[in-house]
Amino acid sequence: MTVLITGAAGFIGSNFILNWLSEKKEKIIAFDKLTYAGNLENLKSIAGDSNFVFLQGDIVDSNLIGSILKKYEPRLAINFAAESHVDRSIHGPDDFMQTNIIGTYRLLEECRSYYSKLTRVGKKNFRFLHVSTDEVYGSLGPYDDAFKETKQYEPNSPYSASKAASDHLVRAWYHTYGLPTLTTNCSNNYGPYQFPEKLIPLCILKALKGQDLPIYGDGQQIRDWLYVIDHCKGINSVLDKGTIGETYNIGGYNEKTNLEVVHTLCILLDELKPREDKKSYKAQIKFVKDRLGHDRRYAIDANKISKELSWEPDETFETGIRKTVLWYLDNQEWVGHIQSGEYQQWLTKNYE
Ligand code: NAD
Ligand code: TYD
Repeated sequence: MTVLITGAAGFIGSNFILNWLSEKKEKIIAFDKLTYAGNLENLKSIAGDSNFVFLQGDIVDSNLIGSILKKYEPRLAINFAAESHVDRSIHGPDDFMQTNIIGTYRLLEECRSYYSKLTRVGKKNFRFLHVSTDEVYGSLGPYDDAFKETKQYEPNSPYSASKAASDHLVRAWYHTYGLPTLTTNCSNNYGPYQFPEKLIPLCILKALKGQDLPIYGDGQQIRDWLYVIDHCKGINSVLDKGTIGETYNIGGYNEKTNLEVVHTLCILLDELKPREDKKSYKAQIKFVKDRLGHDRRYAIDANKISKELSWEPDETFETGIRKTVLWYLDNQEWVGHIQSGEYQQWLTKNYE
């Protein structure tokens, strides 16, 4: 038996694979285009594992996806592949439309064709799990209820609009063609191997370099934060026990303002890697121009996955964020390699 994972070299895909192979013997076919966000170094520790095969390619490439499905005959496909950064989607939405919409469509079509040729037992077992985000639901006011799976979609950024479109395609492929799909909508993840364009790794690395910690607008925007391995465990619960055609929200019950998150990082760094002048890293916080169309608040109601599939996060924000800061401090080689020319160009483009 094999499992096809797209977006395998990104932040969540690589954590999912490392976690999977630490527990199971089932072979992983890891597929990734290796965009700026894809990093094979994330998967270095399993490079020699006989249960791990890496293939470079684009989910938009139907022929390639079709030939991989035929050759490896996976019992399930999990789609992590996406352009995932809101700020980049504002600067240049094109790649988001290509990968997130056209790519998901092509993947669904190839999986539909592959599924139609499976045996009765193969059909019974096959799953297509699409990994999505809470951002498709739009922005909440301070007193609104957290997002339930039934919440109307109201995406506000090019990124969330492209993810919303992909979710709708997955829904349609289930309802129209009977492809056995599952969709998960998760809140903001954090943890090891996250590309340092996202708030938490960006601020850890900038803090250590003595640079400004950029807070967009007033810093009072709220996100719900989930440790990445808890997300991976949630996906496994949905794969094992989820009802075909359903969507499941995954969240950490950790609503924090951006300013609170960055304060927490500064306090942890003050303890674990104090500045030479003994001042707090908080002195580096700088309020900068707000993101265009910046959503004010996201919050996940994770009752469905908790009640129906018995999933609960293992980490609190306090335990997860400490592990994360320690990981970045302990993995300076990874950090050094990721700060390539492309990354420097992004910092200049977005922050100057
Ligand atoms: P990421 O940007 O770190 O990784 C995405 C991976 O997809 C990269 O390895 C990239 O090379 C690959 N990729 C991009 N375009 C591709 C293409 N056309 N074909 C094949 N591979 C391609 O993103 P992530 O944070 O790991 O997110 C993974 C998924 O989870 C995304 O679908 C994202 O929308 C969703 N999600 C992320 C978060 C979060 O907080 N990071 C939260 C909820 C949902
Ligand atoms: P981000 O990590 O980009 O995730 P998302 O936009 O998917 O939620 O951003 C998290 C929050 O942090 C979001 O409200 C934007 C804010 N933010 C900053 O204030 N400064 C920054 O430099 C970045 C990258 C994000």
